[in-house]
Amino acid sequence: MSSTRNKLIKILSEKKGEYISGQELSEKLQVSRSAIWKHMNELKKDGYIIEGVAKKGYRIISAPKTVTENTIMWGLETKWLGKNVIHRDSIESTQTLAHQLALDGAKHGTIVVANEQTKARGRVSRKWYSPKGKIIAMSMILRPDILPYLAPQLTLLTATVLANVLDEHCGIKPQIKWPNDILINGKKVAGILTEMQAEQDKVLYVIIGIGMNINQTENEIAEEIRNRATSLFIETKVEWEIVPIIQKILEQFEKKYDAYLIEGFKDVKETWENYGFKINERLKIKTAKETFEAIFRGIGEDGALLAEKSDGSVEKIYSAEIAWF
Ligand code: BTN
Repeated sequence: MSSTRNKLIKILSEKKGEYISGQELSEKLQVSRSAIWKHMNELKKDGYIIEGVAKKGYRIISAPKTVTENTIMWGLETKWLGKNVIHRDSIESTQTLAHQLALDGAKHGTIVVANEQTKARGRVSRKWYSPKGKIIAMSMILRPDILPYLAPQLTLLTATVLANVLDEHCGIKPQIKWPNDILINGKKVAGILTEMQAEQDKVLYVIIGIGMNINQTENEIAEEIRNRATSLFIETKVEWEIVPIIQKILEQFEKKYDAYLIEGFKDVKETWENYGFKINERLKIKTAKETFEAIFRGIGEDGALLAEKSDGSVEKIYSAEIAWF
């Protein structure tokens, strides 16, 4: 999208429904009034309802419901996240494109969003389903100034953001299954895939991929995962607008991320444990070297799973699959 149109949306959105004159817009954007008029027409084609009144100017009455670069930016209240939005109607994987963009120097805070993914990846090379128009499929490009071993904390931070948004915006109390599956009533509604490029002691970039099932009916959830996956629609019987959920995620993420860089992991740990699934219950833990039973005692200051063994000792687990009884 042209940067003029980005700025136009931003200015109109800051006016929150009040008129702004064509003259003022053309001065602010340093383009002619006929260029403004052309941009307005492009926005209308995108589904925006724009009112133009002689002597008063323009205002946006409503934004379309589909996910596009424009609709994400319209009314998005962030400082740096999502200021650069790359949107595709259909793509193999937002994660793959995000890597390419990051390697080409994409700015911190750039996001890649799609309405459909045809070859999406889940954790440990699992398949991930992203049917058109029913889901959130988004990858965020970040360039945090942290040591590489701390990057998994960003995954836990993202999980708390998703849980908070479901809680506050959708009125659902979700749970987080360690490390980062978001569950509603014990079924997975969202997943997070964090990938990074790093040198010994420097993160070059981190890509956080977020997949959330929004409006699928039960039949639209792939058969092989139907017994363990769900959508917001299935759980609430409400058809959700996707754009406001994406915006809430971006706004919350930015706040939590900025706070995390200054204050560290403590607040994330508390929120995570607030939503933690099966805390203080017996779990089956499968690591690369062994499978054992332990009581799940929450997460450590570094985000590790705290597993209390039968002899009372507590082991920190950094990578494992968990199951329960
Ligand atoms: C998981 O729980 O296994 C993680 C799922 C992550 C899926 C998201 S959807 C957007 C991004 N693009 C991908 O190909 N994967 C992530």
